[in-house]
Amino acid sequence: MKLIYMLAPMEGFSDNSFRTLCYKYGADVTFTEMARFESLARRNKSTLEKIKISYKTPTVIQLIGYKETFLKKFLDGFKPEEGFLGFNLNFGCPAPMFVNYGMGCAMIKRISKVKKLVDIVKEKNYQCSIKLRLGMNEFEKEKKVYLNLIKDADADFFVVHARHGKETYDDVADGSVFEECCRTGKKIIANGDIKTKGDVETLKGFGVSGVMIGREATKNPAIFNQLKGLETADISEIKKEYLKIAGKESDKYKKNVLKYLGSELEIRDSNY
Ligand SMILES: Cc1cc2nc3c(=O)[nH]c(=O)nc-3n(C[C@H](O)[C@H](O)[C@H](O)COP(=O)(O)O)c2cc1C
Repeated sequence: MKLIYMLAPMEGFSDNSFRTLCYKYGADVTFTEMARFESLARRNKSTLEKIKISYKTPTVIQLIGYKETFLKKFLDGFKPEEGFLGFNLNFGCPAPMFVNYGMGCAMIKRISKVKKLVDIVKEKNYQCSIKLRLGMNEFEKEKKVYLNLIKDADADFFVVHARHGKETYDDVADGSVFEECCRTGKKIIANGDIKTKGDVETLKGFGVSGVMIGREATKNPAIFNQLKGLETADISEIKKEYLKIAGKESDKYKKNVLKYLGSELEIRDSNY
């Protein structure tokens, strides 16, 4: 089976230009940064901007939120643009501004709530995937709450970020969990610290359907083609291309992307 390469959702980076650049260099599927469906339901302009698809780039829209009524209201008014593949529900974000209100990775053990949200998306005939961490903390990870969610929720695929909610990017992602995740028979996408062809081969051996890459792509958007063993361009060429695509886009994203593109800088923000 052919492995799917995905660009991770990254707030402040994953706008149309960056997604399109990574698609050009081998990402089969890209994700928008998270967008709150409460704000989308209220037609908040800057949140709606986050889910726009401008270049027909294959895109999954990532949603974060809590109340079913808002998800329904947003979906009732949603019109897919070309490139739209489906929705992803964020049950991985460990930031207190979400977790303290029961969102993000606080949702991992709330399976009946998760099921309701998945059903709402699927009732509209949209693909619905889930991105999760391994639990809120070490205790939940040990209880394997992530496996319960994967077994019980009827999502099309599960992106598993192999850290729990108290871990930062200084803690190494725990690749040992993928094998048991795959044994559930569900479609699993591995995420966390994937950098080399060797990493990909190991994950393939566990039976994952795809790999998702975040921070490595901010340094080198051609990482996808590189891992696929395909030809890539020089980083200066990639930078030029990015500037061409990003010409008219927001400076906020451009500033972030240009800071890391071609550098060896590691993003360490533990809010994600
Ligand atoms: C700057 C930044 C922003 C992020 N924003 C999101 C987000 O909006 N939604 C989400 O699910 N994960 C978000 N993440 C987490 C990534 O999607 C990914 O799970 C994490 O970076 C681990 O993958 P990596 O080791 O390949 O970077 C973010 C990560 C970073 C570094």
